[in-house]
Amino acid sequence: MTLRRPLVAGNWKMHKTGAEARGYARSLRELLADGDGRVQVAVCPPFTALDAAVVAFAGSGVEVFAQAVHEADAGAHTGEIATGMILGTGATGTLVGHSERRAAAETDLQVARRTRAALDAGLSVILCVGESLDRRDAGETEAWLTAQLRAALPGLGGREDALSIAYEPIWAIGTGRTATPESAQAAIAHVRRVAGEQLDAERVRVLYGGSVNADNAAALMAQPDIDGALVGGASLDPESFAAIVRAA
Ligand code: PGA
Repeated sequence: MTLRRPLVAGNWKMHKTGAEARGYARSLRELLADGDGRVQVAVCPPFTALDAAVVAFAGSGVEVFAQAVHEADAGAHTGEIATGMILGTGATGTLVGHSERRAAAETDLQVARRTRAALDAGLSVILCVGESLDRRDAGETEAWLTAQLRAALPGLGGREDALSIAYEPIWAIGTGRTATPESAQAAIAHVRRVAGEQLDAERVRVLYGGSVNADNAAALMAQPDIDGALVGGASLDPESFAAIVRAA
């Protein structure tokens, strides 16, 4: 019997305007109206739709998270967003270190600083880690995850309620090639072991991400160490996202 409340988060990436977010919220609210609140649900719209999404989901229990955050409070950082700006929209969390951000040159050090800045500001964080196909084929998955986690987690003990970790193998993101429940479980058990160096391993939630859809979500989330899902493509349609929430 786990104490960890499942979390299903939809990462919209660079999709949807404010108006589209409002339409989406109307549908998702209806689809989840009979939910019992056992599963925490969040959507991660682009910055430009955060305000609209917060208003449209108000009172629904669905939380709104940003997709990225900068570690500084303010300053000369063109195109970046600070924690206070996210909080100012009414959003309550953020992704940090998504592989698409890391590929666009977000370093381990920035990921660590941004995770801490967001937590210090009172935001929830979904910290993303995951290996490339080359690393997996070279047998380096565990070493890679260990390095990413050891770079980001020191000093974050005690933050287990606000900090989740998403294991997202890069080769499974947007490819339709989902990790099998067994291989996702194996990697996530490793993530939990390494996270246990800094955090209470029984309390930290670890999500799986990478081509999660309504058909594979239940089998993934039935694994003992998988506490939810970070969903990209399949979160863009409220019907399929609601089906994944129900599967959790
Ligand atoms: P996907 O994306 O579900 O489209 O594979 C997952 C993610 O990048 O978070």
